[in-house]
Amino acid sequence: MAGTVSYRVEDGIAVATIDHAPVNALSADVRQGVQAALARALADDAVIGLVLEGAGRAFVAGADITEFGRPPVPPALGEVILAMQASSKPLVAAIQGVAFGGGLELALGCHARLVGPRAQLGLPEVKLGILPGAGGTLRTPRLIGADRALPMIASGEPVDARRAVELGLAAALIEGDLLAAAKDTVRQLAAGPLPAPIDADRGRLDAPGAREAFEKAAEALARRAAEEPQVAAIIQSVRNSFDLPMPAALQAERDFFVALRDDPRSKALRHVFFAEREAARIPGQPKDARARPVARAAVLGAGTMGGGIAMNFANAGIPVRMIETDAEALARGQKRIAEIYAVSVKRGSLTEEARAQRLALIEGAVGLEAASEADLVIEAVFEELELKKEIFAKLGTITKPGTVLASNTSYLDIDAMAAASGRADDVLGMHFFSPANVMKLLEIVRAEKTSPTALATAVDIARKLKKVPVVVGVCYGFVGNRMLSRRTAQAERLLLEGASPAEVDKALTDFGFRMGPFAMADLAGLDIGWRIRKANGTRAVVADALCEAGRLGQKTGRGYYAYPEGARTGQPDAEVQALIERASAAQGIARRQISQQEITERLIYPMINEGARILEEGIAARPGDIDVVWLYGYNWPAWKGGPMHHADAVGLAKVAERLSVYAAQTGDATLQPAPLLARLAAEGQGFSALAAQAKAA
Ligand code: CAA
Ligand code: NAI
Repeated sequence: MAGTVSYRVEDGIAVATIDHAPVNALSADVRQGVQAALARALADDAVIGLVLEGAGRAFVAGADITEFGRPPVPPALGEVILAMQASSKPLVAAIQGVAFGGGLELALGCHARLVGPRAQLGLPEVKLGILPGAGGTLRTPRLIGADRALPMIASGEPVDARRAVELGLAAALIEGDLLAAAKDTVRQLAAGPLPAPIDADRGRLDAPGAREAFEKAAEALARRAAEEPQVAAIIQSVRNSFDLPMPAALQAERDFFVALRDDPRSKALRHVFFAEREAARIPGQPKDARARPVARAAVLGAGTMGGGIAMNFANAGIPVRMIETDAEALARGQKRIAEIYAVSVKRGSLTEEARAQRLALIEGAVGLEAASEADLVIEAVFEELELKKEIFAKLGTITKPGTVLASNTSYLDIDAMAAASGRADDVLGMHFFSPANVMKLLEIVRAEKTSPTALATAVDIARKLKKVPVVVGVCYGFVGNRMLSRRTAQAERLLLEGASPAEVDKALTDFGFRMGPFAMADLAGLDIGWRIRKANGTRAVVADALCEAGRLGQKTGRGYYAYPEGARTGQPDAEVQALIERASAAQGIARRQISQQEITERLIYPMINEGARILEEGIAARPGDIDVVWLYGYNWPAWKGGPMHHADAVGLAKVAERLSVYAAQTGDATLQPAPLLARLAAEGQGFSALAAQAKAA
């Protein structure tokens, strides 16, 4: 939709209103509109100055991110801001909502800024892999000091209205009529000599100790600067505000911006921004589907997951009952929750008062009947289908009609639980990720008969819990764990063919994951997978042998690695190496040196292949949904955009070709390119072509 900037004159003051739903992003027509409004105000002798405001909930949310991939259309935002600074009449920004990125930069082009109570000011560009490209890194330091500007720009976190005034980003917080106050400010400024624009005055840069304070702040960011190119650029650009005249510093900032914008890492981060928002749109959901209110929740099971899930509700201020089969298990679960909150208090991230409030919201209970009054029940008992079916049958009778009944199962069939409940339309999966109070992903599993209302309720509550919901379909392991199982199988296979656990883990940490599969397995406990394999009648020779040897991971001090005396990082263990070599021999596999490239490809590409099958089956609606699952559920490195975006960046033809090679080499037919992957590769397309189709549909 085209943006507009309306112009009117009231009491001799021009008011330009930026109106570009939903968030007044600065697309080309908005930039032109601001420029035209300024020209009109300057040309009209009856006008003494101009107020710039935003319509709706935002002042201006920043540059229009959708324009980044396209050829630039004039005027550039930087030019508009320079024209504003050259104005002979006072300009005042009236900021009632978010002024982010280019929006804040635009406001910095004015002579004064007033904020309403709901204003938020920030430079979030860093999160998109770029830096503010229209003077933000140069004008903010002059206004509030480089030592304060730098952390603000490098974190991307906004400040609220009160803080904006404290910092000196805004002149005043107006509780009442913001536009009237802005007009008053125009009148006051018009009555005296016009204040110098920010560019004309070095401001806080010349304060005593400013340089030293800045260098100290820069030092604190050294580690991030080494890993994230945009952070290094931000530091240098802020430093330029001390060392270069404004025009040269602006040019240097612009050069950084262009280089970063065109870097694949920023493209990936922008993809994530849009994929996350796209995932919120549930395909096939009728427009009139409304979420039911959830005043009370119940969680069944106070184990690893149940406790974390209950904490999410308490953290969001929603009363929750945590239900166990006996008092002892309940007490254990409650103790664990109390301990986690105590750590937060000790670290200073939670106040004593908030801790007490949260604990008071979690009520323990024994026996399923305690769930009868809940509006939403989340089952997180042992991973056994018969047990879960029994529980859903009871829930179906004891809960109120319309209560949403969810299972946190990792793998099991939600349709079977739905059938057992006798109320299939109320049943779905809400699959949290461990630790449930930390990880942001929530796979919401739509079963065959799940009603639009139940689905809307689950998505709505996910947002209230500050989770990132992704709606998926029923299959073994849903999206995340189903893809993960392909990686797990290859990791084990690579050990048998000659790689060491450390080599496999290194390939993934070099790729950008925080941990490799074996370090992760040691942390989570090898018995989890062992139990699942036993239940399914499958085997993983190395993993099974480790479990049989009592090597269950960190908790037993030994797993794929050794953890002498409670060490948290493992050391390679000769016993494990010998065990793997015996397993290779028993399978008749000739061990060889395997390159890191092969290890990486064999861990990542089979997941992408499974992702293609998942898309083909409609288990995930869009490739971006799969990316969001991996980013928020498994810490996929954001600057690689998720597995499907990564596949597009590598090129599907190459991914398909490597998969064929590995299929032939290992005789593993599951590595053959999935039909969808093969087709897109042959057509020279990427998964993004499917995203475009889904959006158009
Ligand atoms: N450009 C284009 N579209 C944008 C946008 C932007 N800067 N910011 C938000 N949108 C779109 C979203 O994609 C979404 O679209 P759909 O409804 O089609 O999905 C819609 O606006 C609403 O966004 P949210 O769902 O996020 O709504 P919200 O109320 O939760 O949050 C917001 C609003 C706080 C503004 C949030 O969207 C946000 O943080 N946006 C990003 C702001 C940003 O990063 N700005 C910097 C841009 S870069 C820049 O400015 C560079 C420079 O120096 C020139
Ligand atoms: P857990 O073994 O730590 O906890 C399960 C709890 O359920 C136990 O405390 C047990 O006493 C209780 N319980 C058993 N029957 C019950 C009943 N009838 N009523 C009330 N409580 C009952 O198991 P965990 O790890 O918390 O897993 C729970 C579920 O969450 C499983 O379905 C699992 O697959 C799933 N899950 C587990 C993840 C993990 O990383 N551990 C991640 C995501 C999902």
